[in-house]
Amino acid sequence: MTDIRGALKQGITELRNAHVLSFTLAAELLLLHVLGRDRTWIYSHPEAEISPADADRFFKLIARRASGEPTQHLTGKQEFWGLEFEVTPEVLIPRPETEHLIEVALDRLVVRELRAGRKQTLTGEGLQIADIGTGSGCIAIALAKELPSATIYATDISAAAISVARRNGARHSVSDRIHFLECNLLDGVLHRAAAGTNISDVGAQHAAPLQGTAAPTAVHGSRTTDHAPPSIDLIASNPPYIGRPEAATLMREVRDHEPEIALYGGEEGYELYAELITQSAAHLKPGGLLVLELGHDSLPAVQPLLDAPIWTNVAVTNDLAGIPRVIAAEKT
Ligand SMILES: C[S@@+](CC[C@H](N)C(=O)[O-])C[C@H]1O[C@@H](n2cnc3c(N)ncnc32)[C@H](O)[C@@H]1O
Repeated sequence: MTDIRGALKQGITELRNAHVLSFTLAAELLLLHVLGRDRTWIYSHPEAEISPADADRFFKLIARRASGEPTQHLTGKQEFWGLEFEVTPEVLIPRPETEHLIEVALDRLVVRELRAGRKQTLTGEGLQIADIGTGSGCIAIALAKELPSATIYATDISAAAISVARRNGARHSVSDRIHFLECNLLDGVLHRAAAGTNISDVGAQHAAPLQGTAAPTAVHGSRTTDHAPPSIDLIASNPPYIGRPEAATLMREVRDHEPEIALYGGEEGYELYAELITQSAAHLKPGGLLVLELGHDSLPAVQPLLDAPIWTNVAVTNDLAGIPRVIAAEKT
């Protein structure tokens, strides 16, 4: 038999020896997960004994963490915007810096309301929002929670990601307001948004070819815009933005365990932004907002794509490390 203090100490030592970052936190989270207890309980019962079965489970998880598996894949969850999300190896683990994107989106929506002379609390009434590359669904669901009257479209080219996002939508009781669509970028969104399709009418969309396999679409005459007027108020996206050659520089937890489709945007990394911005220009209403997360070196490639006369009020927000992390623009 081992007690909590002894198990935690040994787990921490094993993770430290394996050069795991934040080794104490990782060991704590794995022990909390195995015991189904919270942090306060563990630290107020250091002498409590752990059953042999729990100890065995805990040390097996410690060994997997030591060999590079992310803690979130072992516990199956990650917090984002104060909400707990299911995470699997098929989706990107939500990152804290993506919360800046939510903040910028909400701030810009409020400013837009004030400019329009509407001063009441922003509920999202009448707003149509799209989250492109939804992954776990964290952006779409955080926005759905903040804007309880908005209708939201959450797309992803990965069917597995859409399944996880759907489950997270149900977990947070927002499934009735989020259309989850398996498609390339905004391909599945336009006709549904323009037609005001009910959630119950929405079946799975099938993935179109990945960007790069089709010719870039013009804003006018795009294959996605021929028959429907622009109808979206806000498009938010955290697209894959890492360049392939950067793979060798990534932490093993990321490179070996997170989905390639969620990480790499192409050889340069920023390839997906051009088509995303072109489609957004076609889908946003005049005055509609585009809010994009940026990779650490994406800004020089992305900013010139948001130029006049299509875009105005372009602003960049840095993350806590001072890296330009979010770019927002308004369609004229
Ligand atoms: C960086 S992850 C972001 C996931 C989530 N939004 C977040 O912030 O944690 C990018 C997501 O875009 C999806 N994706 C990649 N290429 C796509 C495409 N052409 N169309 C739609 N989604 C795509 C990936 O499957 C992945 O889920």
